[in-house]
Amino acid sequence: MKSLLLIFSIHAILASGLKVVPLAIGSSCSLFADISNVQLQVTPWPMVPGSPTTCTLTGSLSKNETIGSVQIGQEYKSTWVNNLVTINTFYAKGQTFTFIYSFNSPTQSGSYNEKFTVLQNSTNNNILCWQFSFSI
Ligand SMILES: *[C@@H]1O[C@H](CO)[C@@H](O)[C@H](O)[C@H]1NC(C)=O
Ligand SMILES: *[C@@H]1O[C@H](CO)[C@@H](O)[C@H](O)[C@H]1NC(C)=O
Repeated sequence: MKSLLLIFSIHAILASGLKVVPLAIGSSCSLFADISNVQLQVTPWPMVPGSPTTCTLTGSLSKNETIGSVQIGQEYKSTWVNNLVTINTFYAKGQTFTFIYSFNSPTQSGSYNEKFTVLQNSTNNNILCWQFSFSI
């Protein structure tokens, strides 16, 4: 009976995960992150070559921080191309940080790394680094 219940609940989680919550992608590349419960959603996933792609990065602040900018890096064949988006906004401890970034996915086939680095204002200290890989 218990195992049947377990199967049902796992099934329910899977079903809700598939329908409601998009897949969370990537992993941390931070030594000391000041943002926790990080989730990155990329739509569409898998990416469609040469098409509009939206990344939504969210997390909650572990302490008061003024976020200065987010650096977005894309690596292809060992070459990084970086973009900087200015934020300059104060976030109190526990507040949710949401960063939405849209770009056209590449057309050249191969493997890529995409990295988001959240930087503190003034000091440029690394508050969060989050990365994922994809193939075209
Ligand atoms: C963090 O920010 C909140 C809201 O601005 C403030 O009330 C609190 O004193 C701050 N805490 C610290 C440790 O600076
Ligand atoms: C960010 O830093 C700059 C330069 O240090 C400062 O002028 C600006 O007021 C800061 N922004 C916030 C929101 O604190």
